Amino acid sequence: MKKVIYRNQISKVLGISLVVFLLFSISIFAQDEPATGSSGDPVKGKTLFNQNCAACHSLTRKMTGPPLANIESRLSEDEGLDREWLNAWIKNSAGMIKSGDAYGNKIYTEYAQAPMTAFPTLSDTDIDDILAYTAAPPPAPVAVAVTVDSKDGSAKSSDITNELILGALIVVFALLIMMLILVKKTLKRFAIAKGVDLDEAYAGKGLSLWKAFVQNQFLVLVTSIFLLLAAAYFAFGWMMQVGIDQGYEPIQPIHYSHKIHAGDNKIECKYCHSSARVSKQSGIPSLNVCMNCHKSIYEYQGNPEGPTKEDLANGYTNEFYTGEIQKLYKAVGWDEENQKYTGETQPVEWVQVHNLPDLVYFDHSQHVSVAEIECQTCHGPVEEMEIVSQYSPLTMGWCINCHKETNVKVEGNEYYTKIHEELSKKYGVDQLTAAQMGGLECGKCHY
Ligand code: HEC
Ligand code: HEC
Ligand code: HEC
Ligand code: HEC
Ligand code: HEC
Ligand code: HEC
Repeated sequence: MKKVIYRNQISKVLGISLVVFLLFSISIFAQDEPATGSSGDPVKGKTLFNQNCAACHSLTRKMTGPPLANIESRLSEDEGLDREWLNAWIKNSAGMIKSGDAYGNKIYTEYAQAPMTAFPTLSDTDIDDILAYTAAPPPAPVAVAVTVDSKDGSAKSSDITNELILGALIVVFALLIMMLILVKKTLKRFAIAKGVDLDEAYAGKGLSLWKAFVQNQFLVLVTSIFLLLAAAYFAFGWMMQVGIDQGYEPIQPIHYSHKIHAGDNKIECKYCHSSARVSKQSGIPSLNVCMNCHKSIYEYQGNPEGPTKEDLANGYTNEFYTGEIQKLYKAVGWDEENQKYTGETQPVEWVQVHNLPDLVYFDHSQHVSVAEIECQTCHGPVEEMEIVSQYSPLTMGWCINCHKETNVKVEGNEYYTKIHEELSKKYGVDQLTAAQMGGLECGKCHY
């Protein structure tokens, strides 16, 4: 009789785990990459498109030329034109118009007879790539919010491996737990069969262990000391945090991403924070600096495969980013339709992230130009930050530690001689490390 129960339970456990495992593997295989229609490489295509076509074409908007999203399927469905026609058109549209191509002449008239550049140097593979880029499905903004979990098609292989490992772990743990419960039940049954009273046995053991502990004064002492130390450690750590804003990450009026600008597009920090080299403040760039680029960059295209899962989880879709560029236009009063300024501006009030108390004097040029310290030493990997946050504690101890550790660079540093002369006159110091030079004097950092 007992044997039968035992077998039943084993097979139950095995059965359940089999079902769990099957469900899990189905969910893994269900997220296969969606088939792409075109054979070209959309990433290369994006570069080629931006180099050759973006001056006149956008994917979604009418500019000098027609919008080109899904141009290949559109032309073949609506006009019965094939890839050969497209290749010929892109390489020499004027020639086709001259030779009387019907559709060519129609679209030429439609676009006010604006001639398209000829691209005889683009190879057929280049055109494959460009068309693959124009055919890459633009990420659907509404659908994404719902399908963040697994079916957005942008799941990278690493995500899938992670899920696989995670899922496998869950299955293993579930199995282990079931096994343990089973073992415990079986043992209990054996014990009862042998006539052992379990409740009494457990109770006695627990009590004697506790008693032994209480009676051993040395153990009690050590434990209390340990607990007190731990409490003090945490309390001290908490108190030291008061007034320190490390990690402070405010929401800005325009979602401006350093990751996209300084990271993905490799724009130099000093392009925007140009005064860091020469003055006390690094400063935030004026919106005119933004418009140097954003007169022509009016929408965010991101990567052609669409936003990553992480971006989607945060709501960072291409449409979101494009909306943020619109905020920039509104602030500077840029009329996109007519490509001119309206004069109606609204100031953008960036929230200050870093803020030393008024009693402290800190000079960027001294650190960036004279000491040649990288921005990242103090500000962290800003080029990876979607939203800037305060990376260093900005405490007095932080400043002082670095002054003690860092040597002043003298040789080959033109700026140095001038500043050093000024400083040594002003403070009467001529030694050559930050600390020795007076970098620990209260008056250097405090007004
Ligand atoms: C100097 C501006 C200009 C450039 C650069 C340009 N085009 Fe065009 N394109 C046009 C215009 C204008 C038209 C409309 C037909 C006409 O007026 O010749 C057009 C039409 C087209 C069409 C037909 C669209 C339709 O809806 O039927 C395709 C396809 C096309 N261009 C592809 C490209 C590709 C690919 C590139 C880059 C390799 C490119 N164009 C670069 C101006 C340009
Ligand atoms: C295209 C312009 C641009 C570039 C390039 C740029 N920044 Fe910024 N930076 C801004 C703007 C605008 C702000 C204000 C909005 C914000 O805080 O996100 C800012 C804010 C900051 C802040 C926070 C300022 C504060 O309020 O305390 C730091 C630090 C910073 N940038 C460092 C860097 C570093 C380091 C780099 C190079 C890796 C860099 N930036 C590149 C435009 C730029
Ligand atoms: C040197 C050129 C350049 C400058 C200067 C520049 N941007 Fe950009 N910006 C870009 C590029 C490139 C993109 C990405 C476009 C893409 O990937 O399709 C972009 C994207 C954006 C986006 C959408 C992504 C995001 O960060 O949220 C916003 C908003 C934006 N810029 C605002 C600004 C503001 C505000 C400034 C001025 C402080 C500025 N940009 C200065 C080149 C520039
Ligand atoms: C030695 C450390 C250090 C280095 C190196 C450094 N910064 Fe800073 N940065 C600071 C401190 C400290 C503040 C806060 C200043 C304040 O509140 O007065 C700050 C503030 C800023 C701000 C806010 C606006 C301002 O000027 O107060 C920006 C922007 C900034 N830094 C950008 C940069 C850039 C860009 C670089 C590299 C060219 C750089 N920083 C290099 C320590 C540093
Ligand atoms: C990453 C290291 C580093 C950090 C962090 C740092 N400094 Fe410095 N600082 C230096 C170096 C190196 C010099 C020497 C520059 C030179 O050659 O004159 C210096 C010089 C100075 C000087 C001029 C000293 C003199 O003798 O003339 C002042 C003032 C100063 N720092 C203030 C600060 C303050 C305030 C902070 C904290 C908010 C700070 N520094 C954080 C590296 C650092
Ligand atoms: C290398 C730069 C530097 C030097 C040198 C320096 N301080 Fe400071 N001090 C700071 C900074 C930065 C802060 C602000 C710390 C904060 O906001 O947490 C500060 C804060 C203080 C405060 C206010 C404490 C608080 O919690 O607000 C006092 C008091 C002070 N310093 C005294 C001194 C005295 C006295 C000396 C000379 C022995 C000295 N400091 C030298 C950078 C310096």
